[in-house]
Amino acid sequence: MDNKSSLTGEYIVIKAMEDGVNVIGLTRGSDTRFHHSEKLDKGEVMIAQFTEHTSAMKVRGNAQIITSHGEIESESKK
Ligand code: TRP
Repeated sequence: MDNKSSLTGEYIVIKAMEDGVNVIGLTRGSDTRFHHSEKLDKGEVMIAQFTEHTSAMKVRGNAQIITSHGEIESESKK
């Protein structure tokens, strides 16, 4: 891909509302798999970008997620 900026650049903000929140990066391309998992403790903030390597992110645990599309809170299972 020549113009990488056409498919990257967006940042999201994730604030952990509890200990042990996981932010998982999933690969771009035909093979969709986890490539990185970052653990956040309560109050910690991660600012993450979609890149040529990362097409999706999964958040596990209770966190506040702020994106250009809006704000949402992920919930923990129990
Ligand atoms: N090396 C990864 C990349 O450039 C780092 C990364 C970017 C990442 N955004 C992420 C890891 C989101 C986990 C979640 O794509």
